[in-house]
Amino acid sequence: MADKAGPKPRAVTLLDMKLVLRFWRQDWKQFIGLTALTLFYSAVAIAYPRIIGYIVDAIQQGLNDPAQFALSTLRNLVLLLVMARIAGALAEDLRPFAYMVSAARFLWRTRNQVFRSVLDQGFTFTNRFPSGDVQERLDQDLTDVAQFSAVGIFWPLTSVLTMAFALVILIRMNWLLTVVTLVPTMASFFVYLRIGPSMDKWWREWREKMSETNNFLESSFSGIRLVKAYTMEERNAARLRKVLDARIRSAVRGARLRAAFNSTYGTVAGLGSLAVLVLGGLFVIRGRLTIGEFVAFNAYVDMLVWPMIGIADMITWIWQTGVEERRVRELAEFPSDVRVNAGVRPASGFREVRMTRVGFSYAPVGEQGTKESRNEGIEGPRDKGTKGGSEGAATQSKPCPPALEDINLVLTPGARIGIAGTVGSGKSTIMRLLVRAAQPTRGEVTVDGTPQSEFEMRSLRALFGYAPQEAGLFSETIRNNIVLGRTAPDTEERLREVIRIAQLEPELAAMAKGTDELIGERGLRLSGGQQGRVSIARALFDRPRILLLDDVTASLDAETEQQFIRDVMSYMQGATLVIVSHRLSILAACDIVYVLDQGRIVESGAHSDLLVLRGLYWKLYQRQLMEEALKEE
Ligand SMILES: Nc1ncnc2c1ncn2[C@@H]1O[C@H](COP(=O)(O)OP(=O)(O)O)[C@@H](O)[C@H]1O
Ligand SMILES: [Mg+2]
Repeated sequence: MADKAGPKPRAVTLLDMKLVLRFWRQDWKQFIGLTALTLFYSAVAIAYPRIIGYIVDAIQQGLNDPAQFALSTLRNLVLLLVMARIAGALAEDLRPFAYMVSAARFLWRTRNQVFRSVLDQGFTFTNRFPSGDVQERLDQDLTDVAQFSAVGIFWPLTSVLTMAFALVILIRMNWLLTVVTLVPTMASFFVYLRIGPSMDKWWREWREKMSETNNFLESSFSGIRLVKAYTMEERNAARLRKVLDARIRSAVRGARLRAAFNSTYGTVAGLGSLAVLVLGGLFVIRGRLTIGEFVAFNAYVDMLVWPMIGIADMITWIWQTGVEERRVRELAEFPSDVRVNAGVRPASGFREVRMTRVGFSYAPVGEQGTKESRNEGIEGPRDKGTKGGSEGAATQSKPCPPALEDINLVLTPGARIGIAGTVGSGKSTIMRLLVRAAQPTRGEVTVDGTPQSEFEMRSLRALFGYAPQEAGLFSETIRNNIVLGRTAPDTEERLREVIRIAQLEPELAAMAKGTDELIGERGLRLSGGQQGRVSIARALFDRPRILLLDDVTASLDAETEQQFIRDVMSYMQGATLVIVSHRLSILAACDIVYVLDQGRIVESGAHSDLLVLRGLYWKLYQRQLMEEALKEE
């Protein structure tokens, strides 16, 4: 693809639709079946006018020469016509049904596959594609591609076959008349090719407008509490109006383009029919064409014009769907931050997890996930920057400053490790790298000396129980949020135990249905602290080897917190604990505390040693003591 990222991109062809091709490669038997059905339908449709032509000629022969007239010939022809009609009607009805079924299969299979790959994605992906955009791509875009995968292929195939059959018959009847018919038809086809690219450009714009609307709605709804708290209803409504206005303008532009095309096209094509009427009439008068042939000819001209339009339509359709297919494929083929090598080495236990000179930078946040698709699509990031659209290159050239630099730390069984630091210093990022939610940009994280990337992902992650800073609850019951579909013979017991340790008992007692109480969309029925505790219970449930708590204990008061740590340690039986906390007193229970500032470890040591240092940790500690004193007043 030697594209310039100019306003006129190379048009998409069927071969670019990799999702569609892949589907049919797998389902080739069905493809052959549908092709046969299409072939049959076209043949029957083509035979029809010719049979009528024969009937007209037979009648005329009877009129001219009644003595020679054989009623049986006419009867056979009519019988043939009826049979053709019935067969045609059957094929006609069966066809759309068969196409729809395969479109539905395409949709089902592809959506599952793409969704699966979206689930494997990391921060680069989520930073780049807002969730409203992902939704739009998986919903409308994919539905359109599915429609195309069947109808878009077989409908034009019908056109091509019909045209091919019709041409053969026409040329055999009268080649001169055929040529005359073809000239305007071909001309209209070229009109089409000229208008097509602007249609394509419009369509991209249109799809992006849809994604924009979706993003806006999604963020308004998910942030509805804030919208209300800041009385932003009016402003939001005004913004929505603006987004919708832009969408309407785009729709009108599209309609205008289509209308311009249709009228030009219709006029030119109509000239073809006129030529046949005039010239064909002359030929009949001169005896170079029978009346039956004239009738058939007229029918066939229609058959030529419409498939021509059908094929032209198919070309725009390919262009438009091509854009959508690329939008979907962008999701599926986006290189994941974290390579998942399934089935490599399983991680069953560990003697040491070590971060060696680890550095990490987040991917830049895309203004709109669709920005880059406008130019090059997936090829952008994948092709090592050999092309990449201008905007794509612009976003890529501004990487985020490193969130972590030169991090060295070790986790050993039974160790209690604390992480403290200023806000935004990279504490949560360390946790994410430990569970391999992201891949270090520099250095490596090893388990017993082997890089994490060589382990089978599922077993690697099973080593960890992770309560992230944002609880990440599902709109589900408390039980399901904790158990998350994991099974254990002693599920009930464990559930009770982890609820006790996470100090959730008082909350549950207040709920009518206990653990079966629904907690609302993303846990909105629970307070922030309660959400954190559900998340802790979830992390504890599997008795992981390493428990990562990212600032989730802040909602416990100081005494409960100490009790909590003791309970956790006894429940986990010698497991490793990594705890990020703003409350530095809890870190007193740790063997070692790493203190982070601007992505670097600036101090490390036991709580008491760190205080003696009188460095950053000490400052943080003083500040906290002051805050607590203030709170107590
Ligand atoms: N998803 C993200 N995309 C881009 N930058 C991020 C993302 N998450 C965190 N950061 C940035 O990385 C740095 C470290 O963040 P984080 O690890 O969350 O800090 P902490 O947990 O110590 O408060 C911050 O500067 C933050 O802005
Ligand atoms: Mg954090």
